[in-house]
Amino acid sequence: MKISSADFVMSNSDVAKCPKDKLPEYAFIGRSNVGKSSLINMLTHRKNLAKTSGKPGKTQLINHFIINKSWFLVDLPGYGYAKVSKSTKKVFQKFITAYFSKRTQLVSAFVLVDCRHEPQKIDLEFMQWLGEHQIPFSIIFTKADKLSKNKLETQINMYIEKMLLYWEEMPNYFITSSSSGLGKEDILNYINQINTE
Ligand code: GTP
Ligand code: MG
Repeated sequence: MKISSADFVMSNSDVAKCPKDKLPEYAFIGRSNVGKSSLINMLTHRKNLAKTSGKPGKTQLINHFIINKSWFLVDLPGYGYAKVSKSTKKVFQKFITAYFSKRTQLVSAFVLVDCRHEPQKIDLEFMQWLGEHQIPFSIIFTKADKLSKNKLETQINMYIEKMLLYWEEMPNYFITSSSSGLGKEDILNYINQINTE
């Protein structure tokens, strides 16, 4: 899919105030610093569309971007970041869960996980929660450029093996790097396929 336009629409912490348009929507979620905002920039070919930072906790609101004037990409705050105060963390969790349970336009979530790590409790819990709420999701392995080809393959296989302890089958997944652009076409084609179904 060719991205001919990608524009920021709005940021807020209240799902009721999100855009009213019933356009298909795809949301990026995962632990702080996993690379959600960077991935949105990579997919849309825009350097600073979504704000990124080396420090976790950069994205603090629900950010809507409209792509090709026909569908939304949503950048969300990370979960599970210990350094924001406990009360801030609670607010994140509250509006993140409100977003996922109330946003009827949401077609699919992408749960981002760092390809270097084994399944983290918080990610497993979040995927479980999505499953229980019947919210379709794919896993996105990020930062693939940080590993050699062999090590990457070993890591992914290990991740799948561990997922199969909890899931009957491995959820749909993508392997990406925001620095090299790996995975871009696969994700955009996947979204395009759903949008044109
Ligand atoms: P929060 O908004 O804080 O939840 O973080 P985020 O998940 O949006 O992460 P962000 O995109 O801001 O990236 C965090 C850090 O990881 C930045 O320093 C990025 O440059 C780096 N990063 C993100 N993706 C990649 C990648 O694919 N490869 C490499 N090498 N670094 C990456
Ligand atoms: Mg971010």
